[in-house]
Amino acid sequence: RIVYVNGEYVNESDAKISIFDRGFLMADGVYEVTTVLDGKLIDFDGHAKRLTRSLNELDMKPACTDEELLEIHRELVKRNNVEEGMVYLQVTRGAADRDFAYPKDAKPSLVLFTQDKPGLANSPAAQIGMKVISIDDIRWGRRDIKTVQLLYPSMGKMMAKAAGCDDAWMVEDGSVTEGTSNNAYIVKDGVIITRHLGNEILSGITRAAVLRFAKEAQMKVEERSFTISEAQDADEAFVTSASTFVMPVVEIDGTAVGTGNVGPVASRLREIYLDEMR
Ligand code: PDD
Repeated sequence: RIVYVNGEYVNESDAKISIFDRGFLMADGVYEVTTVLDGKLIDFDGHAKRLTRSLNELDMKPACTDEELLEIHRELVKRNNVEEGMVYLQVTRGAADRDFAYPKDAKPSLVLFTQDKPGLANSPAAQIGMKVISIDDIRWGRRDIKTVQLLYPSMGKMMAKAAGCDDAWMVEDGSVTEGTSNNAYIVKDGVIITRHLGNEILSGITRAAVLRFAKEAQMKVEERSFTISEAQDADEAFVTSASTFVMPVVEIDGTAVGTGNVGPVASRLREIYLDEMR
C-alpha cells in the first residue's frame, strides 16, 4: 500500500513518524474516516468540516487546506485502486519533547492510509442485524471531538465479542450515549429516536445525512436521550457510521428488539442512504 506521511507518498513499510509525536505519546491528535464506494469518496465535505472543528477545539493548526486534503484522499484512492473501503486520516499536534504542556508552534503531523473493504455496501451483517451489550460510558467528557483516544471503545468492542455480540452501546446517567464507533437509534411507533447532540457524543456525519433523508421522506425524528429498557421495548434499533452506513440492531443485552429481525425503517434508511450517497 501507498500511504501519505507529511507531504510524501511512500510505501507503507517506508513510512516514518517520530517516537516523540504527541499523537503516539499522549493521544494528542484527531482523525476522520471517509468511506469509498465505487472508487468515490462519500461526504468528504462533512468530514473535512468536522476535522476543522476538532482541530479548533484542541487549539491545533490544520496541516493543510481542505482542497489539499481532498487531493490527497483522491490520490491515495487512485494509487491503491480502492473501489470499496476507507480513507483514514490522522492529524496530531506533532513531535515535541515529552511534556504535558504543548508547544504552541508544533508542526502538526498528517498521516493518511486506505483500507480495502470489498462488499461493504452489500454486507451480509445488514441482513442479519447486530447484537449489542450495554456498558458504562467512562470516556472523557468531550466526545464531540474526534480524538484518537480510542482505548475504551476498543475495550468495549472486545467486551461485546467476549459476550458473543457485535458491539457495545455505552450508557451514562441511565441514558444511551452512542455505540463504540457509531451513533445509536431506536424506532418506536414510527418515530426515529436518537440522542441530541452535545459534548457527550460525536456528531456523526452519517447521522446528519440519515436524519436529513428521514425528514425528507416524511419520517418523524426525535433527538433526545433514551434508556436501554426503552430500546429493548422499541420496534427497531440501529446504528450509523461512515463504515457501516445504517446497520440494524436486533438484540440488546440478550433481549430481542421488536421481532428480533431486521426492521423496515432501518432497511429503508440504509437503502435511501446508499442510493443518495453513491
Ligand atoms: N467512527 N460515534 C463514535 C464514537 C464514532 O467513533 C463514530 C465514527 C461515529 C459515527 O460518525 P460518522 O457517521 O461520522 O462515521 C459516532 C469511525 C467510523 C471509526 O472510528 O472508524
